Order: sequence, then C-alpha cells, then structure tokens
Amino acid sequence: MSDVSFQELKPPPRILLGPGPSNISPRVQMAMTQPMLGHMDPYFTTIVADAVKLLRFLFRTENEITFPISATGMAGMDASFNNFLESGDVVVIGVNGFFGERMVDIASRCGAEVVRLDVEWGRIVESEAIEAALKSRKRVKLLALVHAETSTGVLQPLAEASRLAKQYGALLLVDAVTSLGGHELAVDDWGIDICYSGSQKCIGCPPGLSPFTASKAAQDILERRASKTPTFALDISMLARYWVPRDSRFYHHTVPICMLYALHEALVQIVEEGLEARIQRHLRHGTALQAGLEAMGLTLHAQAGHRLSTLTTVGIPSGVDDLRVRQRLLNEFGIEIGGGLGSLKGQVWRVGLMGYSSTAENVLLFLSVLEKLLVEEGHSLLAGAGVVAAVQRLR
Ligand SMILES: Cc1ncc(COP(=O)(O)O)c(C=O)c1O
Repeated sequence: MSDVSFQELKPPPRILLGPGPSNISPRVQMAMTQPMLGHMDPYFTTIVADAVKLLRFLFRTENEITFPISATGMAGMDASFNNFLESGDVVVIGVNGFFGERMVDIASRCGAEVVRLDVEWGRIVESEAIEAALKSRKRVKLLALVHAETSTGVLQPLAEASRLAKQYGALLLVDAVTSLGGHELAVDDWGIDICYSGSQKCIGCPPGLSPFTASKAAQDILERRASKTPTFALDISMLARYWVPRDSRFYHHTVPICMLYALHEALVQIVEEGLEARIQRHLRHGTALQAGLEAMGLTLHAQAGHRLSTLTTVGIPSGVDDLRVRQRLLNEFGIEIGGGLGSLKGQVWRVGLMGYSSTAENVLLFLSVLEKLLVEEGHSLLAGAGVVAAVQRLR
C-alpha cells in the first residue's frame, strides 16, 4: 500500500451565486449517473441528435452547424476565431471587459490584424464606434462582440451591430456564454453568424460543453479556407461530421457521454419551462437583486439600461474587506459569489443568478446575509431596506 494521501470525495453543499458554474437541478444531476454507452451506440446517437435539435431551439436557429463542443466556453471562443480567421484577416473586436480582451489575445494568435474597439469597462460598445471601426479597413472579415460581459455585468445590444456588420460585409461573431438560456438571443433573426456559449451558466448544466452554432455564410468560409484549421481538436468541419453528419457518423474524438446526458436533460427542462418564461424568470430575479442592492445604498457598476439579469456587478463599499466578506459568505453560509476580474479586482463583486440558481429565495437570502456581513464590516446601512426593495420588485 503506497502512502499517497487523499480525502474522501464529499463536496460541501453550496449555493452558487458566482459568475458560474451555477447550481444544477436534481434531474440534471441524476442524468449524469445513467449507464455508460459508447459514443457510436445507436441509442446514444439518438441523444446526440436530440441535443442538436434542442440546441437549435435554444439558439433560435436553423443552422446546420449547431452542436456542443466537448470543452468549456473558452474552447468555443478558440474554435470561433481559429476556424474563421486566417493569417492577415482583419477582425474588429469590442473590448469592454475581460472576455473582449481574451478575444483579442486569441485573434492575435491566429495571425489576424485586430482592430480593438476599447470602451470603458462597464459600458456598451456604441454603434457609432462599431461603424467607424468597420469603415477603417478595406475588408473586415469578422466583427466580434461579447453579448453578456461577465466581468462587468453589461448586456451588449446586437441588432444595430448586426446591421452594420452586414452593411460592411463582415460576419458577426457573438460570445453568449453568460446569456444563452437566460437572456433573449435569436441567432437567425438577429443575423448572428458565429455564436458560442457555455453549459455551466444559464443552461443549468455542469461545465464541460460549449454549445456552438455557425450560419451558412460562416460555413462557406470554412469551405474556402486556404489553409487547414490550425487546431485538430476544434476543427469545426471535422466536428460536424460527428455531430451533424450528412452521411455516416465520423469518429473525431470520444464525446463526453455523461455530459451529453446532462445537457440533454438541462435542455429538456428549458423546453418544459419555456424559453420566454425562463428569460422572464432571470429578469425578475436579476432586477429584484439590483433593486435590493441599490436600496442598501450600494452602487451598481454596469451602465444603467444595459444591465445583465444573469450577472450583477456591485461596487464594494470603501472600508469593506473584499476577500473577508466573500470568505465569510462561503464558509459561514455556503454562498459563493465572484470577485472582480482584471482591472475590477477589489472594486466589485459579481453576483450570478443563472439557471437553477436564479430563484427568489436566493435573492432574498443573499441580500439578508450581505447586509449582516456589511454591518459587521462597520458599513452603515438602513436595516432591511435591501430585502424590502427586492420583495416589492418580486411582487
Ligand atoms: C463571457 C465569457 N466568455 C467566455 C468564458 C469562458 O468560459 P469557460 O470558463 O467555460 O471556459 C466565460 C467564462 O466565465 C465568460 O463569462
């Protein structure tokens, strides 16, 4: 017997109100315990075909290329740039937060010429700036925007951006990691060409899959590439031959069976709830949380009128210890929230209300616990004001 030490696997129960993952429903949890099957098993491939149909429903698209990539949201981002860009292509990227910055990094690695559209973190990228950037080069191949900036809590409007992309002959690429399944998103109606998300946020599944879709125009680009897609694991044309085959299913990699069970169950639950009802649920709870925080005298970071309901950024009052509050939330109350990312580190907290975690109970619990902790930090506020405002909003 070797002396390797280990502990019993016994994760503590948590209320996940951070930027993701969010809690999963008991049904999704149970789905993952179903028997293992081979990825070419005829029963399993019916689950795959269902998952593709359900993802088309969720993305609101008819795109043939629609499937989950077997990795997290970052793989969706990597796949989106690596497949559709080639060296020397021009891409305009809205950078109003941490994830826009990551897009720039990835696009640069593809050898593309990146036109950055820098905006103060917490504000949207305005249409005028988008148009100026699209005009600034002879031929822009992609316009890339983050729909829901998880670092700032901002919801980027897409309708005008899409119109401009079409006008200047660029494809529109959208990161919907923190919006798909929680905010309105209509890939076909809004003219989005390339879109990816993550399973672990508003979809209500564990982390590990990145739902992906690409339009016919984007698909044509894949067929016209001068060079091979530089990544084998994320080669969309090859992946399509497993997920959405035109003839026989092609082995590319062994897909994560239990994750597919979980995704299937989570998507079925979304259909049962209804997409519109689900979006309204996220809106109701997000706005109640925001009303409560403001009633407590706290400042919301994201631009008014463009706030996510799935993720709220709130300023940390001066004199309050960021880390101590988050640690107490976790250790004493089992509640996880997120700290600030990048330049917002130490400035804001990020409170997610996504998927199964988006409940009225979680809103009220979080507000009352936060009030207690802030008072104990020496911050004065009107007792009970947050919960009262949230209850009013929930009604
Ligand atoms: C907007 C956005 N894009 C991309 C990602 C990357 O996703 P993942 O962490 O699942 O790889 C995240 C993760 O939080 C995100 O919020």
